[in-house]
Amino acid sequence: MSNKKHAPATARNREPILFELNYLLVATGKVLEIASGTGEHAAYFASHLPHLEWQPTDLDPDSLKSIDAWAADAGSDNILPALKIDVREKSWPLGTVDAIFNANMIHISHFDACIALIEGAKRHLVPQGLLILYGPYRINDAHTAESNDSFDKDLRSRNPDWGIRDFELVRDECETRGLLLQARKPMPANNQLLVFCRSST
Ligand SMILES: C[S@@+](CC[C@H](N)C(=O)[O-])C[C@H]1O[C@@H](n2cnc3c(N)ncnc32)[C@H](O)[C@@H]1O
Repeated sequence: MSNKKHAPATARNREPILFELNYLLVATGKVLEIASGTGEHAAYFASHLPHLEWQPTDLDPDSLKSIDAWAADAGSDNILPALKIDVREKSWPLGTVDAIFNANMIHISHFDACIALIEGAKRHLVPQGLLILYGPYRINDAHTAESNDSFDKDLRSRNPDWGIRDFELVRDECETRGLLLQARKPMPANNQLLVFCRSST
């Protein structure tokens, strides 16, 4: 039986995200994807961005198998074997990277995981490297759509530590650690793409 898992949303959001990555990640370099999930994003982005080396990761062993299965099917030689990374670990098993991409983890984990992701980005990004976050956020103390409000309530009923985060809170936690907001782009289906640039100091 195939190890490939499928998340239907990835097929809907991958093209608009790729559109943004295409101009954000112009130079050759290594991208660390945190929380790759099924691995469908990794396989799609790596095959469409052949100038990049794509390092997918997740903490879940079944997801790691799924990531490698999607990568094998894609047949791209710029996608590395999936690496087990729990962002909350103080040490991640790799060196510096040019960009970090993370989709849809921050609202489906304890806020500690968001902080750990930002701390990890500070440790592993090269100066001027980018932290790119994709997912739903509250903005100006409000949800951007009623569907996000319902989704938030559903998340919190499943786990009180989960929930859609305030964009301003995530921005401030990043900026305190020298990751400066470069762009916030509204995306389809009431999501946002946040781009932070690691300062040189
Ligand atoms: C909703 S899925 C998103 C997967 C994929 N990025 C996407 O957009 O389809 C959330 C993922 O976050 C991962 N995750 C949750 N907590 C994590 C942590 N502390 N460290 C690393 N990954 C984590 C889960 O294993 C899961 O694969």
